[in-house]
Amino acid sequence: MSEYSPLPVPPMSIRFDPAAGTLSPEGPTLTRRMSDLEGLFRDRAAWEQAVADGDPVVYSVVSSQVPEVDRELPQSITTIQPGATGGELWMTKGHQHPNHQGEIYLGISGRGGLLMFDGAETRWVEMTPGTIGYMPPGWAHRSINIGSEPYSFLAVYPGGAGHDYGWVLEHGMGLRVLAATDDNTAANGNTGTDTGVEFVAYSGD
Ligand code: 6PG
Ligand code: NI
Repeated sequence: MSEYSPLPVPPMSIRFDPAAGTLSPEGPTLTRRMSDLEGLFRDRAAWEQAVADGDPVVYSVVSSQVPEVDRELPQSITTIQPGATGGELWMTKGHQHPNHQGEIYLGISGRGGLLMFDGAETRWVEMTPGTIGYMPPGWAHRSINIGSEPYSFLAVYPGGAGHDYGWVLEHGMGLRVLAATDDNTAANGNTGTDTGVEFVAYSGD
């Protein structure tokens, strides 16, 4: 018998609907609008304009009923809408898990990227349906929609990991991800990539 006796939730099955981007039975849903992303976009004036122009939903996170409690293994589906503000592709806030633990993402639909930063190095994993992105302990992570459709992925993470958003506001993510345009290419002296994104350093802000 396990030494772990408390049961916040019983053994169960969770229905995962990839087309709808839902989990059922469902737990809490979080909606992040543009106004929730203050201080994250490089172009503050463009961010203010987007907030004034209807404050669009940038992403939502639907969770299962497994709680964020130590030794539990919660899951959630994040759906990021397509878009760019000041040329910077729509993204999640990004966070560090203060109690350093690993995490996985599984691409469900659309095209996205997983940006990871350990305070010194930045890594990029392109995410398409079926890709598993692995975040080792201590790597802050942010997701970006790099396509023209909504980008959805399933996250599975240790319930006791915690979420530190201030870390990313303080340290950044090493790189920013812009839509590849002739303007961006010229401004950055960069030849662009075949994925349609441009990377620029936070240090260039
Ligand atoms: C997590 C996951 C993931 C993440 C969402 C929204 O640790 O819970 O990384 O579910 O929270 O994709 O991203 P932000 O938490 O950075 O807003
Ligand atoms: Ni996380």
